[in-house]
Amino acid sequence: MKVEQLTCSIGAELVGVNLADAVHDDGLFAEIRAQLLKHRVVFLRDQDITRAEHVAFARRFGELEDHPVAGSDPDHPGLVRIYKRPDQPADRYENSWHSDATWREAPPMGCVLRCVECPPVGGDTMWANMVEAYARLPEDVKLKIADLRARHSIEASFGAAMPIEKRLALKAMYPDAEHPVVRTHPETGEKVLFVNAFTTHLSNYHTPERVRFGQDANPGASDLLRYLISQAYIPEYQVRWRWKPNSIAIWDNRSTQHYAVMDYSPCHRKMERAGIIGDKTY
Ligand code: SIN
Repeated sequence: MKVEQLTCSIGAELVGVNLADAVHDDGLFAEIRAQLLKHRVVFLRDQDITRAEHVAFARRFGELEDHPVAGSDPDHPGLVRIYKRPDQPADRYENSWHSDATWREAPPMGCVLRCVECPPVGGDTMWANMVEAYARLPEDVKLKIADLRARHSIEASFGAAMPIEKRLALKAMYPDAEHPVVRTHPETGEKVLFVNAFTTHLSNYHTPERVRFGQDANPGASDLLRYLISQAYIPEYQVRWRWKPNSIAIWDNRSTQHYAVMDYSPCHRKMERAGIIGDKTY
């Protein structure tokens, strides 16, 4: 296997690997897993694998989960379809920086995304290294956020465009999750800045040390959250991947965020994503 690093911060392409082989080859799978932990997102071209092989490979990391709003392939539970047709209005949730499903108490540990069909140009995906985003924060900000926690909501994201009854039913099934603002990566022990587009507010900001009068709570808390969320936008922490059919990205959802660039309308774009169940954050 040849490993070609794509930026100084994040991302590597794995060359000379067939993921179907890694379903049964423990050594190869261990090598891919090690590269994933090191580079946070790894990419492969020309993976002409079946949906069953896609699912079987992803399941080597752990059990898969479906998505309550995006549908899955009926024959392959756990394989979420992210399909865009030329006649579809732009989905608002696609082009924002996020880690997948942080509205779950245990957000996914990672995902394996395969491109089935893509426009000839456009529709790239970008990833950001949130370990580096934390490490390079000013020291006073690190101190300020050390014990902060934040709420993450499916209601305010996927639910926002739904009629109220549907939105409240979604919220009842998936109540807002609370995660530390600085998460410890369960495998590497690294500190990760863990707020994104699903984060609605800081849940324990309003203490006497931070808030003398009501005016200090807001915009104090909202400015701080906006600043933290904006760290993923810094190009030095990012990699950008150009898709071709049968290209695959595997990312560590605990230490990265991603952004699907929606510049390709009116074209088809068909992606299939296996999301792997992760750990609780505390
Ligand atoms: C995702 O947000 O998980 C999918 C990214 C993409 O479609 O490029």
